Amino acid sequence: MSKKDEITWLADGSYLPDIEPHTKAKHLILEEYIANYIRILHGTGRRGVTKFTFVDGFCGGGMYEDRDNREKWKGSPIRLIEAARKGFKKAGRQYDEPLDIKYIFIDDKQSHIECLKNYSFPQVGLGYLVDEEQHEYREEFGQCIEQCQFILGEFEQVINRCIISVESRKGSSFFLLDPFGWSHVSMNSIRKINDLSGSEILYTYMIDYLKRFAFVKYEKNKRKTFNKILEAEGYYESVNLDNMDTFGEQAYYRNEAMRLFRDRGFPKHIQEKYIFTFAVIPKTDSRVLYYLMHLSKNLRALEVMTDSFWKQNNVDSQYHFKIYGLAFETQKYYQENQFILEFNINKDKNELCIDKLHEQLPDIIGDNADGITYGEIVKRTMELNPASLLHYESYFNQLKNNKEIKIFRDGKEFNGTKFKRSDIIKLPRQYQGNLFYNSKLFPK
Ligand SMILES: C[S@@+](CC[C@H](N)C(=O)[O-])C[C@H]1O[C@@H](n2cnc3c(N)ncnc32)[C@H](O)[C@@H]1O
Repeated sequence: MSKKDEITWLADGSYLPDIEPHTKAKHLILEEYIANYIRILHGTGRRGVTKFTFVDGFCGGGMYEDRDNREKWKGSPIRLIEAARKGFKKAGRQYDEPLDIKYIFIDDKQSHIECLKNYSFPQVGLGYLVDEEQHEYREEFGQCIEQCQFILGEFEQVINRCIISVESRKGSSFFLLDPFGWSHVSMNSIRKINDLSGSEILYTYMIDYLKRFAFVKYEKNKRKTFNKILEAEGYYESVNLDNMDTFGEQAYYRNEAMRLFRDRGFPKHIQEKYIFTFAVIPKTDSRVLYYLMHLSKNLRALEVMTDSFWKQNNVDSQYHFKIYGLAFETQKYYQENQFILEFNINKDKNELCIDKLHEQLPDIIGDNADGITYGEIVKRTMELNPASLLHYESYFNQLKNNKEIKIFRDGKEFNGTKFKRSDIIKLPRQYQGNLFYNSKLFPK
């Protein structure tokens, strides 16, 4: 992002940047995901996770002007805290020790940190959290300990401190990395975060500025810097870029991003690595400004994030998935003249999405005549299509009802509709035909 495009906050809140529709979508994804993240990790199992650290590495001033609605719009720090509280409430569990959440907010501009502490937090009743002490937050069923830390500094200079802090606290951690440009986060830092046990990252990967400056041939030094910061030698080097149309180019950049981050973004010893992207297309030229990239080491995390991305996806999944993955297009948002705040299933999108599953799954089922687990199928395919777990379940339920597959749980045939990862999917012995699925029958 060029300097002039960068958004600023004044320390006393007398100037706040305007919120844009695509940033709203990003915030809603974050909020939805964090509420589910806490609900699931803290609230499920005999004893859920009780310690979390959230690091908002590029936190900003905490509040925006929402001119469309003539009100204020909350930024990522406030949304993180509110969403975690929502998740805690939904989990509804209290163990012998309370849920303990620490938030670390980093920004390199003093006026942004001041605005966050002195204007934005007090506006929403969180002013008492700026003293950096531990505070008790109460729900009817129990309490949660919250603590905020504010760090003024450049992310790359302070990340080691944060990593040490997360390591000593233990528990799970979530890093929101939302910089203005690609040069503010190094691959080395991403790898270090991924080396922490129980960590995950939501990263804004600013691809558009990168392309404009680093990939043009006469900008050799930019390319060198890019290769150094993101360890990208051997990536994005297709000789044919000049001949590609916009869509071909967009698909190429996305695939290369996935390849780069998968290869270099995780330490070598990590086997389970998942990356899922959400494209943000604010202009009318179909170019992706940035990808929200979710990096995790846990299939459940990928499943939950896919759901959150789905709710903000406003492009036709089948056609666009090959190019962008799930995406938010500002132009479409204005055309539709509505913002999808609720998970409002759009039937066409669902049909297309299930058709996509139907392209991929029958071969896998057919190749595993002795059976394959539901979890294994999801694991092998989820990054490759836009479907959420709801789509997978619907797809398998219909095949089961048509008697085209059988599902086994604990050695017995299973007739329920909610699947477990360990359930085994098999073709019936006598089955000869092609699996039939009618995507129009996706339940509303
Ligand atoms: C896109 S804004 C963040 C918006 C915020 N995450 C939200 O959603 O409300 C990026 C922020 O990163 C800060 N920033 C830019 N470069 C930085 C760096 N190297 N280290 C830390 N913060 C930086 C900027 O001052 C700005 O406040």
